[in-house]
Amino acid sequence: MIDRIQALQGEAQGAIAAASTSAELEELRVRYLGRKAELPQILRGVASLAPEERGAVGKAANQARQALEALIQARTEEMAVGELEQSLLTDRVDVTLPGTPPQPIGRLHVLSATRRELEDIFLGLGFTIMEGPEIETVHYNFDALNHSPTHPARARSDTFYVAQDGASVLAPQDELVLRTHTSPMQVRAMEAHPPPLYVVIPGRVYRRDLDATHTPQFHQIEGLAVDEDITLADLKGTLLSFAKAIFGDERDVRLRPHFFPFTEPSVEVDVSCFHCGGKGFLKDGSRCYLCKGEGWLEILGAGEVDPNVYSHVPTTAANAPGYDPEKVQGFAWGLGVERIAMLKHGIPDLRLPYENDIRFLEQFS
Ligand code: PHE
Repeated sequence: MIDRIQALQGEAQGAIAAASTSAELEELRVRYLGRKAELPQILRGVASLAPEERGAVGKAANQARQALEALIQARTEEMAVGELEQSLLTDRVDVTLPGTPPQPIGRLHVLSATRRELEDIFLGLGFTIMEGPEIETVHYNFDALNHSPTHPARARSDTFYVAQDGASVLAPQDELVLRTHTSPMQVRAMEAHPPPLYVVIPGRVYRRDLDATHTPQFHQIEGLAVDEDITLADLKGTLLSFAKAIFGDERDVRLRPHFFPFTEPSVEVDVSCFHCGGKGFLKDGSRCYLCKGEGWLEILGAGEVDPNVYSHVPTTAANAPGYDPEKVQGFAWGLGVERIAMLKHGIPDLRLPYENDIRFLEQFS
């Protein structure tokens, strides 16, 4: 019996040493140590042996089983390391590769990209950014900006009035409109902060208009600077820096007299045409289509803050000591984000950016 045990152990050890995969080892474990295998059966039979044999056979069989178990365990561990290394080599996945198919990462809408570019330029010039309500009172949108009671922009055919529910009838200055420009934020900004004040206010504005150059909703960026010793030269210098940053270093600006109820003097600002270099004609002698031969492109409205606007800014704890027109002067401008984007990218119709046609939007990176 003991010989048989030794023979079995020898055979099993040879097989275990020769095994080359953990699956083979598992097979050998079942063959030599499994429930039906010979060695465990010998062990189970020890009790029925003659008493003088039991001790020696039991001991030999137990030792053989323990030795085989330890050997299988050791070989399994050894192989696990090798097999892991092997699978790391063969199953190598480069997790830095793009998915299949590579996904486009998308881009900012041309109007968002333009707004951000404009904001960056004014931040660089020392302005901070504020935002304000799109639903505005008639007080801030018109009255506090010197619009006469009969100003045409107040007409319901030009401006979206927000209906109130029947019961409450608001006083005229408390009526609500979708703001027609970002200028109502001039008085709101001054109410919230004392001078000196340098702010730009980007945002949506609304007018009852729709054609190739007007949409009922569009974007403006208002600018307002109030400080001591501010002159029209500061306005021109600021807008010249802005024009160069957005349209190129060789650009010039010119101011033309205009009228806005809340600035005095008021100007319209033109930038020299970046397509023809301000000449009005192209190299081949033909008329520049962009500026229509003018050499100048209108980009925004601006002016010195009308001193009367300060009288609409009550002095509060937040803006103490308030805005005294004898002490402070300011300038303001309002520009259309869509207009800048159209000029810069040669977009022929303002409705295009609002149609969400991917073939159009993809052209701007
Ligand atoms: N709010 C004016 C407009 O929408 C533009 C403007 C702003 C003019 C500030 C002067 C000063 O046309």
